Amino acid sequence: MVIFGAGGDLTKRLVVPALYNLACAKLLPEEFAIIGFDLAENNDESWQGSLFEMLEAFVKSSGRESMVNQTVWHWLTERMTYFQGDLNNPQSYEALKAKLCEPDAKNGTRGNYFFYLAIDDRFFGSAVQHLGQSGLAQEANGSWRRVVIEKPFGHDLESAKALDKKILAILDESQIYRIDHFLGKETVQNIVMFRFANGLFEPVWNRDRIDHVQITVSETVGVERRGRFYEKTGALRDMVPNHVFQLVAMTAMEAPNSFDADAVRSEKAKVIQAIKVCESSEVSCTAVRGQYGPGEIGGKPVPAYRTEADVSSTSQIETYVAMKLQIENWRWAGVPFYIRTGKRMASRKTQISIRFKEIPAVLLREARIDNPAPNWLLLRIQPEEGIAFEFGAKVPGPTMKLGDVRMDFKYADYFGTAPSTGYETLIYDVMIGDATLFQRADNIESGWRVVQPVLDYWASHSPKNFPNYAAGSQGPAEADELLKRDGREWRKIN
Ligand code: BG6
Repeated sequence: MVIFGAGGDLTKRLVVPALYNLACAKLLPEEFAIIGFDLAENNDESWQGSLFEMLEAFVKSSGRESMVNQTVWHWLTERMTYFQGDLNNPQSYEALKAKLCEPDAKNGTRGNYFFYLAIDDRFFGSAVQHLGQSGLAQEANGSWRRVVIEKPFGHDLESAKALDKKILAILDESQIYRIDHFLGKETVQNIVMFRFANGLFEPVWNRDRIDHVQITVSETVGVERRGRFYEKTGALRDMVPNHVFQLVAMTAMEAPNSFDADAVRSEKAKVIQAIKVCESSEVSCTAVRGQYGPGEIGGKPVPAYRTEADVSSTSQIETYVAMKLQIENWRWAGVPFYIRTGKRMASRKTQISIRFKEIPAVLLREARIDNPAPNWLLLRIQPEEGIAFEFGAKVPGPTMKLGDVRMDFKYADYFGTAPSTGYETLIYDVMIGDATLFQRADNIESGWRVVQPVLDYWASHSPKNFPNYAAGSQGPAEADELLKRDGREWRKIN
C-alpha cells in the first residue's frame, strides 16, 4: 500500500487507525507493506511517531481498551517505510518505483499494489498521470495495481467528467476505487440487507404503501478547521451528490440480480439517473439553503459561520441544504424524498425515515379516534445505530384510545459495539478486489447532474437572509415551508 499524503489528517485520523484495526483482526497478510509518500522531511521513526499519537487518541476514544496493543503496532511499524517525494515531480515516481523494486522490498514489484490518494483533490488527476507515465499503474503477469481516490470527486458535473476522462485515460475502471466513506458504515450497508434479506418489507416498499421518505444528515459540528475548504464547497457539494445520494440509492434501488459489485452499482446508478433534474425556474421551490448564525449547542454558545476561522465575514456559502427529490420510476413516482443536511444543528443524527400511508379513517371515526398516528419506519444510521418502527396500539382500558408506541432494535444490544473508523471494510475490499462499496464513474456523474441546476441557480442568485438559522436549531424556516407546501412536516431532530 502506498499512501500519498502520508503526513495528512486523513491518514492520521482514519487510514492508519483502520489499518491498526485490520491488523488486530489479523486481516492483513504477512507480506503486507506500507510506504508513506509525502513532501515533508521525515524518517520512518518520526513518521510512525506522529501517527501513533492519533492512534492512541482513537483507541482511547473507542472505549475498547485504554492502550494501543504494542504487539500489533510493532507488527505494523515493521512494515511501514517513509518516502519523501513530490507529487508533482516525475522523478519522485521513478524513485518510488525503484524503491518498490528493491530486492528487500517486501514482495518486490511482482506483488500487488494499491495507491491511496489521501491528498488534496486538485492533485488527483496529475498523481494518476504520473503513476501511469512511470509504469506504476501497469498490471502485468496476474498482479494488480489499484488506485483509491477520496472525495471530493469533482466540484460540479463538468469537473467530475474532466477528472474521470483524465484518470480513465490511464486506468481501467476496474482499477479505480472511489471512496464514499458513508458506504463503510455498517448501518448503511445494512439498508440493502434489511430490505432484501427480509421478506416482510419488500412488498410494502413502494408508492402504494409509502407516503414519503425523509433523509436527514444533521451534524452539531461546525466547519472545524476546514473554513478554507468549506468556503469553496458548501453543504450541497460536500454532502449531497455523494453521501446523501448513496442513502437515497440504497433506500430506493431495485433488488440486484446478485451481490456482485456491478450488479449492485448498476441498480444504484439507475435510481440516481431517475431523479428528476429540475429546471432553473423550479429551484426555489425544490431546494432550500441555510447558513448558521450564533447559537447554543449542548448548553454552550457557538459562533456564527461567518466568524469561524478562514471564513469571510460576508460569506454566502450554505451550511445547510434541504431538497425535495422526485424519483421518476415505476416504484417511486409520486413519493417525494425530502433530504436535508446541515452543520451546527440541534443534534447529530443520520436517519432515513419512511412514512407509510394512512389507513382509511372510516373505522376509527366510528370508534371516535381522530388523527391516528402514522406508521414510521426509522433506519438510524448514526448515532445509536438501529431500526425503529412506530405504530399505534390500543391503550388498555374500557374506552377506545390509541397510543403511539415504538419497537426499537439497537445494534449495540445484539452485536455489541465495534470500534471502527468505517475505513476497515473499504481498505479490506480494495485488497480483495470487491468494488461493491465504491462509487462508479456513472454514479458520480449522475449525482452531479441532479445538483447542477441548484448550484448554478444559487451561484447567480445571492441568498438574501443569511444567516437564517441559529446554531443548535432545527434549520431554516424555509425548509419547514418546503414540506408544509405538500401538507407534511419534518420529523424533529433531537
Ligand atoms: C465528510 C464531509 O465527507 O463527511 C464533512 O466533508 C462531514 O463535512 C463528514 O462532516 C460527515 O461524516 P461522518 O462520518 O462524520 O458522518
